[in-house]
Amino acid sequence: MIAASEMLRRIANCAAGFALVAAAIAAGGQTAPVKKMGTAQSAEQANELDWWKNAVIYEVYPRSFQDMNGDGVGDLNGITARLDYLKELGVDAIWLTPVYPSPHLDFGYDISNYMDIDPEYGTLADFDRLVSEANKRHIRVLMDMVMNHTSDQHEWFLQSRSSRSNPYRDWYCWHDGKGQTATDRGQPPNNWQSLFGHSAWQWDEKTRQYYYHKFYVQQPDLNWRNPAVHDAFKEIIAFWLKRGVGGFRFDAITTLFEDPSLADEGVVLDKDGKPVINAFGDPQLDGSKTDNQPGLHEVMEEMRPEADKFDSSEFPGTRVLIGETYLPNIGELKKMYGTPDKPEFHLPMDTQVGMIDKLDVATFRQRLIDAGTHLGAHIPLLLFDNHDNPRIDARYGDGVHDVDIQRVIAMILLASRGVALVYYGDEIGMTTTPPTRKQDVKDPIGIIGWPKEKGRDGERTPMQWDGTANAGFTSGAPWLPVPPSAAAINVQAELSDPNSLLAWYKALIRLKKTVPAFDSGANIMLDPENTKVLSWMRQATGAPQVVVSVNFTADTVTTDLTLGEAGIRPRELKTLLKTPGAPDSAVLNRIVLGPYGVYIGEVQ
Ligand code: GLC
Ligand code: CA
Repeated sequence: MIAASEMLRRIANCAAGFALVAAAIAAGGQTAPVKKMGTAQSAEQANELDWWKNAVIYEVYPRSFQDMNGDGVGDLNGITARLDYLKELGVDAIWLTPVYPSPHLDFGYDISNYMDIDPEYGTLADFDRLVSEANKRHIRVLMDMVMNHTSDQHEWFLQSRSSRSNPYRDWYCWHDGKGQTATDRGQPPNNWQSLFGHSAWQWDEKTRQYYYHKFYVQQPDLNWRNPAVHDAFKEIIAFWLKRGVGGFRFDAITTLFEDPSLADEGVVLDKDGKPVINAFGDPQLDGSKTDNQPGLHEVMEEMRPEADKFDSSEFPGTRVLIGETYLPNIGELKKMYGTPDKPEFHLPMDTQVGMIDKLDVATFRQRLIDAGTHLGAHIPLLLFDNHDNPRIDARYGDGVHDVDIQRVIAMILLASRGVALVYYGDEIGMTTTPPTRKQDVKDPIGIIGWPKEKGRDGERTPMQWDGTANAGFTSGAPWLPVPPSAAAINVQAELSDPNSLLAWYKALIRLKKTVPAFDSGANIMLDPENTKVLSWMRQATGAPQVVVSVNFTADTVTTDLTLGEAGIRPRELKTLLKTPGAPDSAVLNRIVLGPYGVYIGEVQ
């Protein structure tokens, strides 16, 4: 069985046979970014351009972050009220999942107007205030850009479905059925399926054709072969850039195009040659005609200059384009950066590393080597979590050492070369809390797929600010229940505990921002045969080397970092960070790590 959250990752992990590559990586520029807004100095202007290169980006799920008006739903004013917390944590940018007007069937990913704010979340004036307060704290606000589909309530679609001759007809993907006649709708054009279950084709009686929807029926796919659609999105992008946003995260970007031949997709077979059945009870398809199709790169080559050309003295700095890019291998990921002449994304998500879902040293080592070598000088965007996947506890935890394992994950995320994406609540160790009864489910895929697919509510529960009944999230009735774990796992409790996970995240982010080798220094794998401990060195010209060792097991192990290919000699270490209570390691050839223990030291 394949669950839908698994399907969102689609073919991401199908790739096999990564060549073992020597761990030499070219290091980029060494200057630590100083983030000061709005000055005329050229050095500072250069830093404005580079602000994103070693950034920590924090994903806010606005519905669940902070409610200010007591309706149980988080809002923009709530995010503004929590900016000091985010500043304290050390984030450079926040990415908001969609806050545009929406019927909220897919909780904002079904947009009915791209140039306004949903009244549930506030007003455009609230948005402007959020951006300006964030910018005062040197935090950029990134918006979600959903270009694959709109809501079926969007004016474009209402027009499109009103008649076959409407000027908006060709903005969506309409087709006749197979064997359709004047009186018989026939069969859907082919076997393509929605990622959210069942056929991707919806019959529309009024104009007697099928429309295509990769996601819910209420999310019709736009037709990206129509130039008018391109122009509409350029206008939307400019609208938000003018309001001072720092960039966009492009949603479901690999699904923009479908194969024009409309050929059936292949059915995935198990080892006995039988079709794999997914959580919705459908045969699993291979995505070969509806995912990562030709045309996508040209669209991004066209959108990138829209961000690059934007110039504002009020909010200086690079506007960053992030991609939701679940891809089968590092080669496909590399293409998403584009070429020097035709750049595409600054930061397509590298799901190769964070979605391994198993603490396997060799796989992590290889994927990190890939990110450092195959992507060339491009910067990987690492992430372990988001609003579509069960949280870290559910995917990496063992139920006994979960906090230690969360420290391990944080270490890989924040001490590796790249930009780090942190999902709200992961910094305090929020746990996945799925609904236990079908009638409580809010995410429709959890209703369509119950009980095998429980939907994504479990990773979208309210942020746990304190130990009160609603965790400080709302004074009303929260839209999703506050997990019982909030009594112990919450910001307030962790702020006063120097050994908390929150303290760990803060310490790591501070190191990422202040240790010169952590700015853009290469990741060089050490002790490469070790199957229990993942170790690497960050190395940059003119900066002291820093070693990182992470124990992936529940055993106490001693590691010797002088054994690696890099062949470094036993030298003294200055501890920068270690698991609370762990012994201090003083030399490279003897680092003692307790269960899931972690160590960072500077080579003296
Ligand atoms: C992306 C979003 C997900 C949404 C889907 C359809 O995968 O992250 O939450 O349901 O696109 O827009
Ligand atoms: Ca509210």
